[in-house]
Amino acid sequence: MALSRREFLVGSATACGTLLAMTVPRSEGLSTSTQGDSSKSLAEHAAAKGILFGTALRGSALKDPAYANLVASQCKIGVPESGLKWEPLRPAPDRYDFGAGDYLYQFSISHGMKYRGHTLVWEQALPPWFHNTVNAGNAKAMMLDHISVVVRHYAGKMHSWDVVNEALEPDNGRPDGLKNTPWLQMIGPEYIEMAFHAAHEADPKAMLIYNENWLEPEDRPTEKKRQAALALLTGLKKKGVPIHGLGLQSHLFAETVVGGPNLARFLDQIADLDLAIFITEMDIRDQHLVGSVESRDKTVARKYYEYLSFMLQRKAVKVVMTWGLSDRYTWLSQFSPRPDGSPVRPLPYDADLKPTPAWNAIAAAFDQASER
Ligand code: XIL
Repeated sequence: MALSRREFLVGSATACGTLLAMTVPRSEGLSTSTQGDSSKSLAEHAAAKGILFGTALRGSALKDPAYANLVASQCKIGVPESGLKWEPLRPAPDRYDFGAGDYLYQFSISHGMKYRGHTLVWEQALPPWFHNTVNAGNAKAMMLDHISVVVRHYAGKMHSWDVVNEALEPDNGRPDGLKNTPWLQMIGPEYIEMAFHAAHEADPKAMLIYNENWLEPEDRPTEKKRQAALALLTGLKKKGVPIHGLGLQSHLFAETVVGGPNLARFLDQIADLDLAIFITEMDIRDQHLVGSVESRDKTVARKYYEYLSFMLQRKAVKVVMTWGLSDRYTWLSQFSPRPDGSPVRPLPYDADLKPTPAWNAIAAAFDQASER
């Protein structure tokens, strides 16, 4: 789907950079030496170290020209927040609608951004017809057809695909830690490797990623999930399954304990499997923080810095993406509202599109990272 030139001429990155130079607040709690240079975009801070920075794209939000400007000026990679999930893509069992995915692809490439796909196999965001139509007899064919059609549609154009999303849940009680999803029930545990083979066949150039939530916290319950993830990925690599990386969603709470020996060991084990590590969906929930906006922002910024500076010590970490760029359009307003009803502030720009201390924290973490 082509968009008019006017729709994409949403401003110049340079002009936006100049504006930022005047408005980025210093984030107290980080030392002066770690303040990011606001004349450069987050993507530029990242690129100086060989890291790709970007964000999730929502079509309705990009209709807001100021927001579209911001995304175009700060990011070098985009991913649809929802547009490539089954629900929007598959209005009927025999129909594909690439409208949203193509719009966001055009937005990305017309602004010099790479594009990644999210997500081919997940148990959420399935269309209403799914449960009456897909059964043990046809699930494998349905899944493989979907992957083949969708991945071929963007073949040669995708930086990477989240092939399988959130397939682990040790609390479901299986020894392999796999989540009891419809895909698992109807196809069996092999659905994961089948999905990767099908995606690779359809686009041999795309990096293929296994994307997972809640692997980051240092605590013991999460350790079980990390072990299940390591076993899953080790098994896939041993079998020669075409998988190239692990996506850590990194939807953290401000209170989440990160950066200890458990996560460090896990990251090293993943890198030893010759897998890249992507931070795919980062945001930091201030849902339960009390106090002034200023103090909440500082706490959120400290967590961004703490997590990213720890993660970026590993050269396997190649991509950092936030789940949206501004609090004006964060999914957390609906999904995780604050009990006091005040707006949530999980992202590097607030609802007025002004950079928050988190912007500085992210820039500072990139500045401090070693080159890769
Ligand atoms: C979320 C979107 O941001 C919401 O707009 C939608 O309503 C639900 O899905 N993990 C994922 C993402 O992998 O696809 C989810 O995105 C957030 C959690």
